[in-house]
Amino acid sequence: MDLHVTIPTAHGGLTLKNPIMPAASTFGNIIEYAKVFDLNKLGALMGNSMYLTDGTPTGNQKFHRAEDGFMSAFGRNAISIRRFVEEILPELPWETTPVILDLKEAGMEKMEEMVAYVADTGKVAGVEINLNCPYAPGVPEYWQDPEQLTEFIHRVRKAAGTMMVGAKAPTGNYNVAQVTKTLHQAGADSFTCYNGQMGCAVDIYTRKFCCGGASGTSATMGYGYRAYGLSLTREATVAAPIPIIGSGGIINARTVIEQIMVGAYAVQVGSANFMRPDFMPRLVDELAELMEELGVHSLDEIRGTATPN
Ligand SMILES: Cc1cc2nc3c(=O)[nH]c(=O)nc-3n(C[C@H](O)[C@H](O)[C@H](O)COP(=O)(O)O)c2cc1C
Repeated sequence: MDLHVTIPTAHGGLTLKNPIMPAASTFGNIIEYAKVFDLNKLGALMGNSMYLTDGTPTGNQKFHRAEDGFMSAFGRNAISIRRFVEEILPELPWETTPVILDLKEAGMEKMEEMVAYVADTGKVAGVEINLNCPYAPGVPEYWQDPEQLTEFIHRVRKAAGTMMVGAKAPTGNYNVAQVTKTLHQAGADSFTCYNGQMGCAVDIYTRKFCCGGASGTSATMGYGYRAYGLSLTREATVAAPIPIIGSGGIINARTVIEQIMVGAYAVQVGSANFMRPDFMPRLVDELAELMEELGVHSLDEIRGTATPN
């Protein structure tokens, strides 16, 4: 049984021992989980979305567990990239399991600085540029303009050296075909095409929103969004031949196989990590078992094989 996947990149490809990795900000700062399982069991490692500096935590209600998934309005309260690189990265098994960092920063210059800093460590295999961020002051949805997104990817690519350069979708609806094509044409190596939907929940006893700030809305994800996540992978793989990292409602091996059959190279696990901390290593075992049951020897054999009924 071969669980390996190789994501083709501008610098020769990134091989993962299996397609399972955590999604941004759903796996703490990674190192905490070393107490729970051997991190080498995963295909790749990813922790909190990172900024150059520490964020100021807001007083907003940040997290809500709804019937159909999770709502999150965590905002900017992770540790700084420098603290992560100095204190945590050296403790991770980066030589045997690729570390991919999801990066957020407001402003192209800051993002370039952060990418170059990460590249200099020589310990990070890839970066995932988070489009959920205002990359130019006063232009919150910068990525909607193909010219600006192209310039942005070019600048990141230059700063990234040999690291894989991926992008992560914004939360909510966006023009999947346009963004995927632009990323591909601009030379990005991968696209994580799902980042939850906008949602809203009300506590009917207190009459308060369950999550988020004054807007009352926040990102919503989890198993209830599995079909939506899969449809984004489908739209993106049809739009351009850029490797897709699929996600949305990954809760068992069947949901992983679905993503691969629709065309994904790998998958990110989000909400399920909050259900049990050892969810991902168990998923890797379950995936091998399901592949055996289906008579599938490698993921390359089934990638993109789903056809109209
Ligand atoms: C509590 C929580 C916090 C999250 N924070 C971020 C974040 O800071 N940046 C980001 O790009 N995605 C964030 N996400 C989204 C995940 O990275 C991922 O896209 C999503 O959870 C995958 O779908 P799933 O939860 O259905 O597996 C968060 C998700 C959850 C559940």
